Amino acid sequence: MKLLSKERQILLKAIDTPNLKEISVYESTGGYTALKKALGMAPDALIDEVKKSGLRGRGGAGFPTGMKWSFVPFNAGKPIFLLCNADESEPGCFKDRLLMEKNPHLLIEGIAISSFAVRSHKSYIYIRGEYAKAARILQKAIDEAYQKGYLGKKILGSSHDLELVLHRGAGAYICGEETGLISSLEGKKGQPKLKPPFPAVSGFLGNPTVVNNVESLATVPWIVQHGGAEYAKYGYGNEKSRGTRLFCLSGWVNKPGVYEEELGFPLKDFIEHYGGGLKEGAKLKAIIPGGSSTPPLTPDEYEKALLDYESMASFGTFLGAGGIIVIPDHYPLLKILDRITEFYWDESCGQCTPCREGTGWLYKMMSGIAHGNGNLQDLEDLEKTAKSMMGTTICALSDAAAMPVLGFMKKFPDEFKDHIHQKRSIGGDSHS
Ligand SMILES: Cc1cc2nc3c(=O)[nH]c(=O)nc-3n(C[C@H](O)[C@H](O)[C@H](O)COP(=O)(O)O)c2cc1C
Repeated sequence: MKLLSKERQILLKAIDTPNLKEISVYESTGGYTALKKALGMAPDALIDEVKKSGLRGRGGAGFPTGMKWSFVPFNAGKPIFLLCNADESEPGCFKDRLLMEKNPHLLIEGIAISSFAVRSHKSYIYIRGEYAKAARILQKAIDEAYQKGYLGKKILGSSHDLELVLHRGAGAYICGEETGLISSLEGKKGQPKLKPPFPAVSGFLGNPTVVNNVESLATVPWIVQHGGAEYAKYGYGNEKSRGTRLFCLSGWVNKPGVYEEELGFPLKDFIEHYGGGLKEGAKLKAIIPGGSSTPPLTPDEYEKALLDYESMASFGTFLGAGGIIVIPDHYPLLKILDRITEFYWDESCGQCTPCREGTGWLYKMMSGIAHGNGNLQDLEDLEKTAKSMMGTTICALSDAAAMPVLGFMKKFPDEFKDHIHQKRSIGGDSHS
């Protein structure tokens, strides 16, 4: 399979340019010319280009970006807000950090263009608290962009004003969920809100609000520069999975990192070409394809899976936020599940009973099995508990906690049974 060449890259083409985070260097790579072009276009024409591109949100849910923008009631007489979701807290995902630390102006340009398209004059970047370095770099870049007239009043002599504020979160996974993010930005507890109403209609302070992921917004300048149809030419075959994506590769591979590839690229080729294969020639046990909340793939599925939304769905999983975690044959799956279930228990905001109680029970039972203290009844209880957490809460954190449990139990039942029958332990302390 042909790899995406440097020349054809959309997001990472300039990433190794020394000092790219400085505005003059970014400009020398063609930066901010898409903003100039966009300001000469009608906002609706920009939305049409993004629709034509087929771009789907890169934050996890994969909702079509142009369609989301067109849901905003532009003539409601209310201020419209554009929020950039830079919370990136899903274990296994670190692509937004790379973009913000290495190429902050690409994101700022994407926000400036997108705000013009959705008629927003105030935008926030909500960045996770732990991303202190990225926040410092972004703030400096925002200051530079104001000085150069790419932000602020009458951008580049146009009639478009945009105030851009960087807001640091306090480090909570739930604040990556868009309505949790909005609550937090409003100065409240970071707790999600019921949808509908969707943020596009009633979001930040009750006003129409577009929430988009860092990578989604950073893709917009290229689409404006080259046209939506050109973007849609990227991708192998599948008409619903167009363009390129950043994939975060971690786990037992020789070359972990963030790589850009076209959607539809075969997963196995990806691991071999970009990751350099499994470390020490290990055999594969499982792959988490899209971050810790996505159900795993077996070695057989790995042979066939493509990096696109539909192929992943056919194997009962998701592309999620692009976090591919490679698990070798010698590694206990229960060790991973012990850690994942603890994470979701810790991160549940506690608002909804199935999530608040369920995440704790999943962790307790999983930890018991992992430490050699489980029994067969636990397996039934785990399944029952996880199923009761799906689709029964305000937001999808509950589903995110339940899905890997159900996925691993379904695809690797023997590993659970072995721990139970042999009282096998992963070592360390048990939560049970
Ligand atoms: C529990 C939970 C955590 C989430 N965390 C993030 C996150 O860290 N970053 C992100 O962009 N989207 C996250 N999302 C998805 C957002 O709710 C939202 O769909 C996304 O920001 C929309 O942007 P996009 O359309 O550009 O993908 C999360 C969703 C859930 C349910």
